[in-house]
Amino acid sequence: MPPKPPPLTLIVATTPIPSTPTTGHQHAPVRLGIGQNGTLPWPRIKADMSFFARITSRPPAPSPTGSTNAILMGRKTYDSIPASLRPLGKRINAVITRSVEEIARRVQHDLDGKRRKEEEKMRAAGQGQGQGQDQGQGQAPGPQTDAIVCAGLEESLTTLEARYGAEGKLGQVFVIGGAEIYGAALRVKTRGVRIVMTFVEKLAFQEDRGRVFECDTFFPVDEELLQERGWRRVSAREVSEWVGETVTDEWIVEGEVRVRMVGYERVD
Ligand SMILES: NC(=O)c1ccc[n+]([C@@H]2O[C@H](COP(=O)([O-])OP(=O)(O)OC[C@H]3O[C@@H](n4cnc5c(N)ncnc54)[C@H](OP(=O)(O)O)[C@@H]3O)[C@@H](O)[C@H]2O)c1
Repeated sequence: MPPKPPPLTLIVATTPIPSTPTTGHQHAPVRLGIGQNGTLPWPRIKADMSFFARITSRPPAPSPTGSTNAILMGRKTYDSIPASLRPLGKRINAVITRSVEEIARRVQHDLDGKRRKEEEKMRAAGQGQGQGQDQGQGQAPGPQTDAIVCAGLEESLTTLEARYGAEGKLGQVFVIGGAEIYGAALRVKTRGVRIVMTFVEKLAFQEDRGRVFECDTFFPVDEELLQERGWRRVSAREVSEWVGETVTDEWIVEGEVRVRMVGYERVD
């Protein structure tokens, strides 16, 4: 039997939202909000943004051929990334859409612009420090910036494997949202599924909106389900092993919010 392919890792930041008001001791189910009006429900949280950037761009281990992680996303999530940043650097951006030709033209245009900027940056760094310093002989190439556009999640996995995996150049595969694509990833039965989840909470109660951020888009699995059937909450040590850096169970306070990173694994 061929070996099971490596697990998919979903990376998501969520804020718990009771779906109905809690009265007395009655416990309202908690939905996990992820988006509002096509963007994130909360203002920029540096601790989470930099965590996301580090773990999705850091290849799993040095390899002689050099490997690059892939980030799979829905077209709406791609559009929610600021134009000056997309496609995200040092990662293979896989954009999923039903309008492949149209979106592929747009993504290719973005990729050309991004590569020009990266080349300019390298030239400037080379002039400052002596040309070619970064490209020492025998060194594995660093992660590359690339983008593909596919008609579905399964197709994106097959394309990544054929284009990069066969040459040993595919690192980890992360699913970065949004709700529709998380839903598709949770339906994949051919590989394991992990979730690295950042909980985001307001520190202070606000008269108008309580403690929650308003959300119109939700993670397809709610908090109770993650605690009950089919999922195992993993230890901070295991999350650290998954992501290649130390993750603790502690809340991190930043401005008016606090964040905490936790992990879940699907148990089949
Ligand atoms: N908190 C977080 O960690 C996080 C992470 C990511 C995103 N978000 C938020 O989530 C929201 C976006 O999520 P979303 O669920 O609305 O959109 P999404 O999943 O990002 O993208 C949806 C799009 O993906 C394409 N698609 C979906 N299913 C498909 C299928 N079976 N075959 C082919 N293409 C398919 C379609 O693109 P076309 O319309 O082009 O056909 C669809 O409109 C935003 O608010 C964003 O900021 C939050």
